[in-house]
Parts: sequence; C-alpha cells; structure tokens
Amino acid sequence: MYVKKISLKNYRNIERLDLELKNGVNIFYGQNAQGKTNLLESIYIGATGRSHRTHKDKELIKFGKDEAHIRLEVQKETIFDKIDIHLKNDSKKGIAINNIPISKLGELFGYLNVVIFSPEDLSLIKQGPQERRKFIDMELCQINNIYYYNLSQYYKVLKQRNSLLKKISKNISLKDTLFVWDSQLIDFGIKIIETRELFIQKLNSISKKIHQDITNNKEILEIKYKPSVTIEEFKEKLEKNIDKDILYATTSYGPHKDDVLFFINDVNARDFGSQGQQRTASLSAKLAEIQLIEEEKGILPVLLLDDVLSELDKDRQKFLIKNIKNLQVIITCTGVEDVLKNLEEKCNIFYVSDGKINTDIN
Ligand SMILES: Nc1ncnc2c1ncn2[C@@H]1O[C@H](COP(=O)(O)OP(=O)(O)OP(=O)(O)O)[C@@H](O)[C@H]1O
Ligand SMILES: [Mg+2]
Repeated sequence: MYVKKISLKNYRNIERLDLELKNGVNIFYGQNAQGKTNLLESIYIGATGRSHRTHKDKELIKFGKDEAHIRLEVQKETIFDKIDIHLKNDSKKGIAINNIPISKLGELFGYLNVVIFSPEDLSLIKQGPQERRKFIDMELCQINNIYYYNLSQYYKVLKQRNSLLKKISKNISLKDTLFVWDSQLIDFGIKIIETRELFIQKLNSISKKIHQDITNNKEILEIKYKPSVTIEEFKEKLEKNIDKDILYATTSYGPHKDDVLFFINDVNARDFGSQGQQRTASLSAKLAEIQLIEEEKGILPVLLLDDVLSELDKDRQKFLIKNIKNLQVIITCTGVEDVLKNLEEKCNIFYVSDGKINTDIN
C-alpha cells in the first residue's frame, strides 16, 4: 500500500499542494518550522481521521481560513482509493471515501495503514501509561474495526458512568442505577482486554527477534501487557471501589488505566534501562508494528518517520533503513546527507520551505 498522491488546501502553513509520491523512500527536508511535520501529519490524519499532535481540528486549518482539505490517493496492488478530509472551523469534519461520505470515523480505518515514528516515540518507555495505550490503540484500531468500535463504546460508557458518579455524590438514591453502566463497562472492557492481550503477545514475539538483531543478541526484550484489572476480577473491583469512585467521581479500574511494560534482560526498562536501551526498545517495538500489520492484513503499511533518524546513532540509523525496504517511507529531516548515506535505492527528495514543497532531485 502506498500514498500515490497528496493534495492539501489551507492545511496549517501549506496553502496549496499537489504532489505525486513514490512507492519507496520520499524525503522531505528543510529548515525548522517550514511545514515538514505538517505534511506528515496530514497523511496520518488520512489514515486515522485524527492528528497525532492535537485533538483540535481547528488548529489544522490555516490561520485566517475557514476550511481545509486533505486528499489522498492510496494505491493497493491494482485498486486505488480516494480519501477526502474536509476540515471546518464551525462544524465537524467531513470524511469521504471514494467520493462517498462516511458517518463514523471507524469506517475510515483500514483504507490507509500507517506507522508513525517521531522523536516522542523514542521516549515511549519513559512516558506515562497513556502514551503506551495510545501506541497500542492506534495500531489496533487500524487493523481491527471491531476493536475501534468497542473502544469508542467503552469510553462513551466510562464518561456516562463518571458523570453519574458525580450526580450520586449529591443524590445517593441514584446509586441504584449505576449497575446499568457497570455491566456495559464490563462487556466492552472485557473485549478490549482480550484484544490487547493477544496483540501485545504477537507484538512481543516479533519485537523480541528484532531487538536481538539490533543488539547483536546482547539483550532480550519482553513486552508485557499490564491490565489495570483482569477479566475475572473486573466486576468485583468495580463493586469494591464504588464509594471511592463516588468520592472522586472517577472510575478507578478498567482498560482506561492499562499499561504496557518493557523488560530488557528481565529488568523493567522504565525504571532501570539506560536512555539508549529505552530508545532501542521503542525502535524494536515500532518496527515490530510494521511486521504485525503485514501479518494481520497481508499488506505493508506506510511508514512516517518524523525527524527520527537524527536522534539515532549510526548503527541504529543503518538498522532502521535496512529494515524498511519494500514499503513506502516518508521521511522528514533537516539535512539529507545522513539519510542518503545509508540508502541503497533511489528516492524522491523534496525541499520544504515556508509551506511550499519543491522537487529537488529526482
Ligand atoms: N493552522 C496553522 N496555520 C498556519 N501556520 C501554521 C498552523 N499551524 C502551524 N503552523 C505553522 O507551521 C509551521 C511549520 O510547522 P512544522 O511543524 O511542519 O515544522 P517543521 O518543518 O516540521 O519544523 P521542525 O524541523 O522544527 O520540526 C510552524 O511555523 C507553525 O507556526
Ligand atoms: Mg517537524
């Protein structure tokens, strides 16, 4: 799968863009604050309907404009799909696939699969559990539409439950109605826990091999799912913590509190890993995601590398570039030399300056 064409209109600092991309390596280079990440972000939105940087769609529209457009043509073997995203200042965004509007975001998933790798991802292990849940969820949603549905339903129910908890603290008679939300929370929650468990098991076995390769067999990486609550104890935990939940108007147990742990040679990398070890483990996990998508969907995703090469040492750079053959890669960087040095194949190079993109070398 690859993005064949990208068209943008009034998207962040890019007023207008019509660009053909290569099924291989595409490099966008330029100075800071020129629009490189903006371009990459627009492709990510084409895949997931959301930005990886902000929840506010309004921020994506060029200052002073009322609307923005992202149009992508995605080639998959012999077929191609058109994805249209219409961002508006005063209403919800509109999404159309092959000119047919969709009503639910979940319908977009799967038309374009991406794996994004940015400097923030390198600190995945150091960051909070929310970031690690996002890392798992964004890939799972792209490969499993039912998961996306269960996850959004779970969060809807959670919101309702938390709002009821707040009301109960003022009117205790409402406590009797809590069971309605609890049973739904458990139903959707169990499905999420089961899917995450399986996904992390697969991710673990793939990333273990990759990590051994990167570290010349010196390190064994183990990625473990740490659910906030097991399926068996979910109901009991909710019941036991009812008073505490009412007091804080928040739900203390459930998949919204899950975490993913990274162990290197049996030691928790979050607490004891060096910065280099943590970054390498993140790299292994990201590369494993690519392979996992290929195994699950039978298709290679598009890899978005946002300024990440300069953050890696020479050996890691080489390893990364060696391992991204056969798929479309979109790289942003400030200088092309390091990237070109490690690349064997021909690539597209674009120069980005003040929201304009110029073909530099072909
Ligand atoms: N809604 C918007 N309208 C107009 N300009 C915007 C909007 N949002 C962001 N920008 C501008 O876009 C510019 C480019 O941002 P971007 O993150 O793409 O830079 P970059 O080329 O990736 O730089 P770096 O190398 O520092 O990562 C920034 O100067 C920012 O102010
Ligand atoms: Mg950037």
